[in-house]
Amino acid sequence: MTVYYRLDAANLDLEIINNAGTLIRRGELVAFPTETVYGLGADAFNSEAVKRIFAAKGRKPDNPLIVHVSSIEQVEELVDGIPPEARLLMERFWPGPLTLVMQALSRVPDEVRAGGETVGVRMPDHPVARALIQQAGPLAAPSANLSGRPSPTTAEHVRKDLDGRIAAVLDAGATGLGIESTVLQVTSKPFRILRPGGITREELQSVLPADIGLEESEARTDRYPHYQTRAQVLIISGPGELEELSHRYRGKGKSIGFVVHKPNDYRHILDEVDQVYQLEGDPELAVRSLYEILRDVDQRNIDILWFESYPEQGMGSVLMDRVRKAGRRE
Ligand code: TXA
Ligand code: MG
Repeated sequence: MTVYYRLDAANLDLEIINNAGTLIRRGELVAFPTETVYGLGADAFNSEAVKRIFAAKGRKPDNPLIVHVSSIEQVEELVDGIPPEARLLMERFWPGPLTLVMQALSRVPDEVRAGGETVGVRMPDHPVARALIQQAGPLAAPSANLSGRPSPTTAEHVRKDLDGRIAAVLDAGATGLGIESTVLQVTSKPFRILRPGGITREELQSVLPADIGLEESEARTDRYPHYQTRAQVLIISGPGELEELSHRYRGKGKSIGFVVHKPNDYRHILDEVDQVYQLEGDPELAVRSLYEILRDVDQRNIDILWFESYPEQGMGSVLMDRVRKAGRRE
């Protein structure tokens, strides 16, 4: 049975944090909020507990986990030296949505590293996450969804995916950012963005010395399943394009959803679709609702999802990365 605890992030109930810490120390799994998405935490040094994460999510064992810390001392217990430029990034972006992949010490369990030589580490910026880590030590935690589903941005999403499979959920409401951390490999130069996320490429570049360089390569993370909608996703760059599409689909009996942030441009078409999702024009705000929408699209059995594109820069390109992955077919 899963126990649900409601928490006020601004006024933490320490008894709840203590209970959750006890569960973690016993090798149980606890879902907790971070500023990005909800995570599914286990004691990072307990192999048996970490194995339970893979079982609960149905996750492939060759996909490594991020270790969440609340201090730099904890990082030093996980990695074989922190590269100086990585330290710059920590000073600027931690606590926050940046995961740094570094050389792991051998005490990091194989299950966390998925057999590799490296470990991803991040310091989350959420009072509940920080308090739990202070209480129970570093937490290995993937997003708290079933493998192949969108990352959860509310405790309700966690319940839908993992109820009965984990010991507890700490519910402190919706997460702030709504999109996962950026995963950056800093073991060799140029540094490699393995997954775009909450800290944009532009922000990273602004802190790094010019000679470091950033390479965007998801070669590693791309091997793993990402959320794909049942619906076919069509990215729309302007009203003209949609006009043509709407002719093509009219009368075909397909149910159509439309995610739009400039509805006035498409006013004549909105009536024709089955479900309109209006997003914020600012991609920083729009990412907050993206995963909720993707879950809803499949729940409503929508066949075709039109998605009004955002300019490919900053958070706009992160958002479009997730939309393309949702629409990918292989
Ligand atoms: O915002 C986030 O990052 C959330 C919250 C809970 O912190 N966590 C999260 O974890 O999204 P997960 O497991 O769902 O995604 C982590 C990604 C995976 O694609 C994984 O392959 C990659 O990071 N990753 C983790 N450790 C790695 C490593 N040592 N080397 C390469 N990639 C790694
Ligand atoms: Mg995930």
